[in-house]
Amino acid sequence: MIEPRQYHELIARESLHWGEVGRDPENPQMWHDPVLFRIFFGKEYGRLLARAVSSGPRILELGSGEGHLALELADRGMQVTGIDLSTERIKRASARANSAHVGSPPTFLVGDLNTIELPVAAYDCVVAHDSLHHILHLDRLCAEVEKSLRPGGSFLIMDYIGMGRVRKLLAGALYGVLPTYQPYRKKWKLRKRLAAFLATEDQKRTALRGSHSGALHQDSPFEEISQGSIVTEIQRTFHVVELETYCPFWFYLAPKVRMPASWKPSFARILHAMDDLIIKSGLAKGAYVWIAARKPSMIS
Ligand SMILES: C[S@@+](CC[C@H](N)C(=O)[O-])C[C@H]1O[C@@H](n2cnc3c(N)ncnc32)[C@H](O)[C@@H]1O
Repeated sequence: MIEPRQYHELIARESLHWGEVGRDPENPQMWHDPVLFRIFFGKEYGRLLARAVSSGPRILELGSGEGHLALELADRGMQVTGIDLSTERIKRASARANSAHVGSPPTFLVGDLNTIELPVAAYDCVVAHDSLHHILHLDRLCAEVEKSLRPGGSFLIMDYIGMGRVRKLLAGALYGVLPTYQPYRKKWKLRKRLAAFLATEDQKRTALRGSHSGALHQDSPFEEISQGSIVTEIQRTFHVVELETYCPFWFYLAPKVRMPASWKPSFARILHAMDDLIIKSGLAKGAYVWIAARKPSMIS
């Protein structure tokens, strides 16, 4: 159990982190590169958009960041509310919404999903893209989402569920030796963050209670805090309609390896095919999960 004072200090740090995090040319991320994003995540993202639109117009997005998904949904005629912890991110998302040419721009609100009270039966659909693995009290949030959905409403999730220790070690080692945008000198300094990179959800939760603080990302204490429990928490509260894991390994290296820009798409397609092969062969499950779930009261 975390004391309220400690929680306030940690969540303030988390909020600051998300407000400051931006593009780092030395550490490019998949979600900053539309071509790579489409190759690795496009199929699941397309499913999420299609299911959200067919669920009904009132949509809530959890951890809406700078508003990309909310705007895509608004562009398809949906009435979207986005909630995010970071005031800075909400400001940027609102500015983006104000200058977008959509009929009904999304509304963006600052809120902490660990403590938020959601309105009753207010939404046809709740979506979460890459945000649930940062939520400390995921059981509580699931109960709030269930309450906020109309009977039969959808809860759609695309999220990170962890790579496991062996794959993380291998990914870390390959990142260390391959030519990346980050120079070798700086990569060597990252060894201090290895414990946090490798830590499981249990180790991170133990670290929050006071010991082994090396398992925590210092600037983002709730990073990956629920990576291991997303699937079980959703299954506990909702009726799961679709569940698939994807991108077990190579997604991690694809944006970071240095090469001429014109080679990137072909390189990414090869790596994505290798990721698919790992899944099909049953060697490992994906590091990401796509879940389409329903509020259970209307199961036919
Ligand atoms: C990896 S980003 C994903 C953002 C967005 N969904 C996207 O895909 O671009 C995670 C987001 O979750 C938000 N977040 C983290 N903890 C949160 C909390 N306790 N309550 C609300 N939002 C939170 C962060 O501020 C950040 O915008």
